Amino acid sequence: MGGAFWHVGLLGLFSLCGWGWVSGQIRYSVVEESELGTVVGNVAQDLGLKVADLSGRRLRLGSEESRRYFVVSLASGDLLVNEQIDRESLCGASVSCVLPVQVVIETPLELFRLEVEILDLNDNSPRFPTTHRTVRIAESSTLAARFPLDNAQDPDVGTNTVSSYHLSLNPHFSLTVKNLKDGKLFPELVLERALDREEQSEHQLVLTAFDGGKPARSGTAQITVVVLDANDNAPLFDQPVYKVSLLENTPLETRFIKLNATDPDEGPNGEVQYSFGVHTSDSIRKLFALDLHTGEITVQGALDFEETGFYEIHIKAKDKGVPEMEGHCVVQVEVEDANDNSPEVLMTSLVNPVPENTPLETVVGLLNVQDRDSGVNGEVSLEIPPSLPFRIKSFDNHYSLITRESLDREKIAQYTIELTARDSGSPALTTKITILLNISDVNDNSPSFSQPFYNSFLQENNAPGSLLCTVSAADPDEGDNSRLTYFIVESEIQGAPASSFVHINPDDGNIYAQRTFDFEQFRVLQIPVAVQDSGSPRLSSNTTIYIFILDQNDNSPAILYPVTGGGAAEPHRVPQSAPAGYLVTKVTAVDADSGHNAWLSYSLLPQSTDPTLFRVSPYTGEIRTARGFQDLDLAEQKILVLVKDNGDPALSSTVTILVSLEEKMSEESFKARDFLPDPKAKPDLTLYLIIALVAISMVSLVTFIVLSAKCLRKKDRESPCCGLSESPSRDFFKHSSPKLQLNSDGTLKYMEVTLRPADTQSQCYRTCFSPGSDRSDFTFLRPLSCPPASTLPMETDAFLPGKNTLNEPGQVRVLLPFIPHKCPCVSKRTLCVSEDRAASCLGTNHKNVSAS
Ligand SMILES: *[C@@H]1O[C@H](CO)[C@@H](O)[C@H](O)[C@H]1NC(C)=O
Ligand SMILES: *[C@@H]1O[C@H](CO)[C@@H](O)[C@H](O)[C@H]1NC(C)=O
Ligand SMILES: *[C@@H]1O[C@H](CO)[C@@H](O)[C@H](O)[C@H]1NC(C)=O
Repeated sequence: MGGAFWHVGLLGLFSLCGWGWVSGQIRYSVVEESELGTVVGNVAQDLGLKVADLSGRRLRLGSEESRRYFVVSLASGDLLVNEQIDRESLCGASVSCVLPVQVVIETPLELFRLEVEILDLNDNSPRFPTTHRTVRIAESSTLAARFPLDNAQDPDVGTNTVSSYHLSLNPHFSLTVKNLKDGKLFPELVLERALDREEQSEHQLVLTAFDGGKPARSGTAQITVVVLDANDNAPLFDQPVYKVSLLENTPLETRFIKLNATDPDEGPNGEVQYSFGVHTSDSIRKLFALDLHTGEITVQGALDFEETGFYEIHIKAKDKGVPEMEGHCVVQVEVEDANDNSPEVLMTSLVNPVPENTPLETVVGLLNVQDRDSGVNGEVSLEIPPSLPFRIKSFDNHYSLITRESLDREKIAQYTIELTARDSGSPALTTKITILLNISDVNDNSPSFSQPFYNSFLQENNAPGSLLCTVSAADPDEGDNSRLTYFIVESEIQGAPASSFVHINPDDGNIYAQRTFDFEQFRVLQIPVAVQDSGSPRLSSNTTIYIFILDQNDNSPAILYPVTGGGAAEPHRVPQSAPAGYLVTKVTAVDADSGHNAWLSYSLLPQSTDPTLFRVSPYTGEIRTARGFQDLDLAEQKILVLVKDNGDPALSSTVTILVSLEEKMSEESFKARDFLPDPKAKPDLTLYLIIALVAISMVSLVTFIVLSAKCLRKKDRESPCCGLSESPSRDFFKHSSPKLQLNSDGTLKYMEVTLRPADTQSQCYRTCFSPGSDRSDFTFLRPLSCPPASTLPMETDAFLPGKNTLNEPGQVRVLLPFIPHKCPCVSKRTLCVSEDRAASCLGTNHKNVSAS
């Protein structure tokens, strides 16, 4: 459009020139944006036309364009603004804006060219292409760096266009304006102070452009400066050193710390990765795991206080910037002791086996006790069960096992000692060790026989080599200390060594007869036997074997009176007038055997002259007349008396007694002859009587013992030995050897067997004479604390065994060969019978009653 006007202008100029306009072109000027009707100039006047002619000559504006903006008032001839003119749209940025106007007058036709200059009005503000502009600047930018900004546009021209810029106040930037040759201004930011994204990542600036009009107009643009991050910050840990305590038995995978390193940078520059520092040893890397991203440290190995109590973990935090930056810290891990170690007990030495005679307070073992824990967790005590004869003595960590009581292998041969080591931790840990301690044998026990003495009964006329008895001994010791050897203690029996009588097997204790025994020679053999062990020194003990030789009926009765042999016996004279029952004489016989074998009975043989005339007392041997003599009776009578013992088979002897009847005979003479035996024969008779009674007494005793043993023992034994010691009455009675009491004339008064209960409160028994007896071979038994004698009937016991069993405690069975009596009497324990008591009890006075 401007070009068009320009052409029109030139045309006009030509035409004006062609028209020969003297004073040049008529030129008007009008300010743009003038109101409609604004008078630009008076055309009529300036063209020299009369106003009145105007309408007549039909004045009009020639070009289309002229008519648009202007109109000529035919009334006044003024050129008026027809339409608001915008200079900027008409002429743009060109400084001069001239609008050619053609005025055409008809009749006559005339053409005039005019120029209307459109004057600029400051009607536009400067304007930025964008009102919001973002500028990105690295925070690392150097000072005075320039950053171009958009310039503002103002369509006005001249002074009305942009003439200056202004930047809002801020510490980092200033503004500089570059002036180009065409007069355009270009604003630029200048960095005045270093940027720090971490401090302020964005700066808001306002740029204002001003034009030179009056009043000046302005336009603004918002400028956002974005500070671009640079990796200028290293990751930083909260603390340079972290201190952590961990229990040593902390389970695996336990997270115990979370590190936090911060990096204020942005993006990768601020992305932190954790890793172990170069100073972190491999062992630590095995024990702890570090999370690359989160910085968490977990336990991944077993922490052992006893191995290492302290760890120092060096940690590095690294960002991902270029170049990367790193920060460091140290994690100090203190491992706390937990009671995770049981005490260790080590037996350093042990005396095994320990001899049983070890003195008290002897060290038999040494132990070492340790606990790898520290503090109270490592304080250990060693305990031993209090029942054992040992105790523990400690010094530091060393303990000794000491004998506390004396040991006896025979009681306990092996100890199982369980020691408990206990630390002081909570809970306490314990370790037990078991020691098997053997006790070795010492020869501290003598062998002991199973019985205090042994009895053996042997029929006389035995075969040599027969087994008599077996002794047995026991030794609680062990090995050689209990290997026993039996032997016969060297002693003499009637001038011959004891070993010539019997032989003992040293190993099994069997005792054999070495020879044939004769009851009439030996009744009892007392053989001392000993046993010894094989220890060192040897220990021994001894016992006695009583070998009782049992009688066989190998002796015939021997007639002591009347004396036969050597010449014919002198006949006994009996008065013719002797009544029936007259004592003619008495046959006295003895038998070397004993017991039944010596129990003699007398009988009249039919070979006698007149068997009806005499009677023989079967027990006493007294021959008495059966009736009075008659005249028919022969004056010389022969009496055959058979004396027979009670053996099996019985042995017998006969004696022939001659009797002559006489008319007259004084009583005294034959009484004296009858009752006072021949003084020469008296010692012999007494001797035989003693022998017979002793033998009888011995057999009685033997029978008594045998039957007692039989009755009292509980089970059958194979051994022929029999002893009181194994019977229950062993502790109940103590016996003493039989005692023979003789009268002053040498005849047997009584035999005394005393059985005394072991219990002091029990009774005491002894044998006494039977009261009122005219026979010296009677015995009786008296308990010492019985009711008075008068309340007890005199009891006569047969000598058959087993009949007189006394069942009450404190009583004993006594078998007596003749007619035993029992008589109560009271006495003190030590003195069985006192004189007066005995007298009152027995009714007779016995000088020889002995205290037992
Ligand atoms: C690290 O510490 C900073 C400040 O000390 C905190 O803002 C941030 O949340 C922490 N990060 C973690 C993962 O704990
Ligand atoms: C202890 O005695 C047992 C059997 O009684 C035996 O097996 C063991 O060998 C003995 N130990 C010692 C050290 O003598
Ligand atoms: C037998 O034992 C007794 C004591 O029991 C003792 O006095 C005696 O000397 C011993 N005799 C032998 C031969 O050992």
